[in-house]
Amino acid sequence: MDSFPLLLVGFLVLSCGVIAESDFVVEKSELLGLFDVIDSLVDEPGWAELHPEPCTNTPWPGIECEIGEDEDPHNFHVTSIHIGPDVSSPPCKLSANISDSLHKLPYLKSISIFNCFVTSTVLLSPTLFGSLSSLEHLSLQSNPSLSGQVPPTLGNLSKLRVLTLSQNNLTGEIPQGLGKLKSLAILDLSSNGFTGVVPFGLAQLHLLQKLDLCSNWIHGKIPPEMGKLNRLVLLDLSHNFINDPIPETLSGLEQIQYLIFDSNPINSLIPSFLGSLKSLTSITFSGCGLTGPIPNSLSALNNFTALSLDHNSLNGTIPSNLGYLPNLDQLNLIHNKLSGELPFSMDFINRLGERLDVRGNSGLCTSYNLASNISTYLQTRTCMGKRGMVDNVTCLQPYDLKGKKNKNPSLYNGRTSSFGPYQDTAPLFIVTCFVVLNMFSFL
Ligand SMILES: *[C@@H]1O[C@H](CO)[C@@H](O)[C@H](O)[C@H]1NC(C)=O
Ligand SMILES: *[C@@H]1O[C@H](CO)[C@@H](O)[C@H](O)[C@H]1NC(C)=O
Ligand SMILES: *[C@@H]1O[C@H](CO)[C@@H](O)[C@H](O)[C@H]1NC(C)=O
Ligand SMILES: *[C@@H]1O[C@H](CO)[C@@H](O)[C@H](O)[C@H]1NC(C)=O
Ligand SMILES: *[C@@H]1O[C@H](CO)[C@@H](O)[C@H](O)[C@H]1NC(C)=O
Ligand SMILES: *[C@@H]1O[C@H](CO)[C@@H](O)[C@H](O)[C@H]1NC(C)=O
Ligand SMILES: *[C@@H]1O[C@H](CO)[C@@H](O)[C@H](O)[C@H]1NC(C)=O
Repeated sequence: MDSFPLLLVGFLVLSCGVIAESDFVVEKSELLGLFDVIDSLVDEPGWAELHPEPCTNTPWPGIECEIGEDEDPHNFHVTSIHIGPDVSSPPCKLSANISDSLHKLPYLKSISIFNCFVTSTVLLSPTLFGSLSSLEHLSLQSNPSLSGQVPPTLGNLSKLRVLTLSQNNLTGEIPQGLGKLKSLAILDLSSNGFTGVVPFGLAQLHLLQKLDLCSNWIHGKIPPEMGKLNRLVLLDLSHNFINDPIPETLSGLEQIQYLIFDSNPINSLIPSFLGSLKSLTSITFSGCGLTGPIPNSLSALNNFTALSLDHNSLNGTIPSNLGYLPNLDQLNLIHNKLSGELPFSMDFINRLGERLDVRGNSGLCTSYNLASNISTYLQTRTCMGKRGMVDNVTCLQPYDLKGKKNKNPSLYNGRTSSFGPYQDTAPLFIVTCFVVLNMFSFL
């Protein structure tokens, strides 16, 4: 049974090769350009000899080609270059670099290079990408020696849908010019050394669904214009130095599901308009210096699954309606100044278990009955009738910061699965074969 599909694949590959070899070629200049580009990346001097016909007979998993449509004669063009965990042999060389010959590959739609520039410093040349007008996907990720600034000329890549430059050594300000990338759906500049402010130009990216600027040195305010991004699903500005209240205009983020702001010195109230963003499933405002109450409006978010407000200075009581949110599965209120009785039902407390964590709120109390059967994160002691409380009430113990780590379940699993960087890379020969077979059916 197993041999039949294998035979079929073998036949298809063979017939692709025959057809392609006789009818279609890669133009000489493009082929030489590809050899230069690969030679500047991988540690295999004989790569060109091993892969003289990379689009047909001697493929390599990191390269994809397509047959040009509106041209005579039809040629193969290199449309994708990819180096990543799935394409890591031969490995990148120590002196890996991005060759200027990239210019000679004008049909490139996708470049993704993962964990390749590790030792010798590589800069993003301002002239390099400007000419690649077909580029739709540019991912340079986890390259610790990819350094310097993002050239504003990247803003000329008008077809770009995905720009991922995360986990590199990039510095300087995020160029306003990126606001010209009208097709952009995903912009991920996380975990670099970017400084300055969030450029208001980003508000022009009407199709943007994911904006991730986390773990940089960005300060100042969130531009009010950002409220125009009505397709945005994820906004992650966490681990920066945003030090201004969240603007009311963000009430325009109609599709937003994930708001991730932790570790910014926002030092203001939680805006109550968040309760009007009906698609919200997750808010993370840990360690933001937030003051005042938890707005009752959050109880209107029916799709809400996770709320992390730990390590702030929130005071007042916990809105009891939070306990009626049907999908709420994680509530982290560690280390605030909340007070009053814990307003949740036994059902809610049992459902969340250790994902309900209210340690470190010394004013918070719970009834004796609850205390007999609640998770260790709701440990109690007797209140001794202080401040008018009856004897039959126990208070929660202050959270011991040194003793236990914050076991805040990560939201990042959900994020990476829906926005993974390699979701649209297919093996070369399948794509090639489809093109050739489709050509067949027209003959
Ligand atoms: C990397 O390539 C660029 C452009 O081709 C060149 O200017 C630069 O000197 C190269 N760097 C190294 C370390 O080879
Ligand atoms: C990272 O960038 C800094 C400053 O731009 C530079 O001094 C350093 O050499 C870079 N690191 C690597 C590994 O290239
Ligand atoms: C590319 O962008 C730069 C800066 O944003 C601009 O000055 C230049 O004219 C653009 N080049 C092309 C070919 O569009
Ligand atoms: C809530 O979630 C359901 C199921 O995922 C979805 O169909 C619905 O559109 C969501 N509601 C809002 C307001 O986003
Ligand atoms: C919360 O703290 C603010 C000062 O930060 C204070 O004005 C307010 O009265 C407090 N509210 C409660 C309910 O304790
Ligand atoms: C106590 O907790 C256990 C599991 O955590 C649950 O099965 C049980 O129903 C709880 N008891 C009460 C009185 O809610
Ligand atoms: C504590 O409260 C429960 C009901 O919440 C009650 O049954 C019990 O008698 C009270 N105990 C004391 C010592 O007041």
